[in-house]
Amino acid sequence: MTRHPETIFVLTGAGVSAESGLGTFRDRGGIWARFDPMKLATPEAYAADPDTVLDFYDHRRRGVIAAEPNAAHVALAQAEARLAGRGGRLFLCTQNVDDLHERAGSQAVTHMHGELLKARCCACGTVTPWRADLTRADACPACGAEGRMRPDVVWFGEMPMHLDAIEAALAEADLFVAVGTSGAVYPAAGYVRQARALGIPTCEINLEPCDNADAFDAARYGPASEALPRYLADLGL
Ligand code: OAD
Repeated sequence: MTRHPETIFVLTGAGVSAESGLGTFRDRGGIWARFDPMKLATPEAYAADPDTVLDFYDHRRRGVIAAEPNAAHVALAQAEARLAGRGGRLFLCTQNVDDLHERAGSQAVTHMHGELLKARCCACGTVTPWRADLTRADACPACGAEGRMRPDVVWFGEMPMHLDAIEAALAEADLFVAVGTSGAVYPAAGYVRQARALGIPTCEINLEPCDNADAFDAARYGPASEALPRYLADLGL
């Protein structure tokens, strides 16, 4: 009898939300093909021109609110519940700043690049749920400081979030799956090699081979909304 994995580490990237209409970054016509990340997604850009940076994230926040989860998000939420029901665990680590995994029903999502629907006060550090546009007139609900709110997302040059919990989950996994990520941004891009070093089988699900495709043991190519549900079903999930 085939032994199904009981502790699965899933890393998702922009490709999982592409069929929900949210842009990827590095594909042709992607966000970083059209906009310079150094002018929009760094602490220096925010210090030099906060209005432009806030406008960029306002636009993306509106897009997230208007989007709906797709079959890939739903399949991951179902797999999480099914694994939990048989005493296993699906650890969902996403680089995405949208909330589509949560809206599809995933109970535990680790957002290593932060969340667009939250704002952080640069004065006191308090993180607040935030769905409206963010302007320099906004005051922090916790400390009252004005003009110090920023999107609670990770910018280039900043440390990704929850790294200790992610490393611990990776060490416990018996399967590593990366879905819709280009393998271009570290530390996430390095997790497949870490998994390999730990002896954990690895699989990539993507439209096409990602930058570090040679690091994976297995691959399923196709749109995430089709390839991922099929793959999870093959795992009995
Ligand atoms: P990328 O835009 O770099 O890569 C998207 C990946 O998704 C590519 O490998 C595509 O082939 C794949 N893809 C596109 N459509 C797909 C579909 N329908 N089904 C399956 N795969 C599909 O996005 P990420 O790897 O997520 O960070 O980018 C990583 C980080 O770079 C982002 O979190 C963001 C960005 O800079 C920050 O902003 C800090």
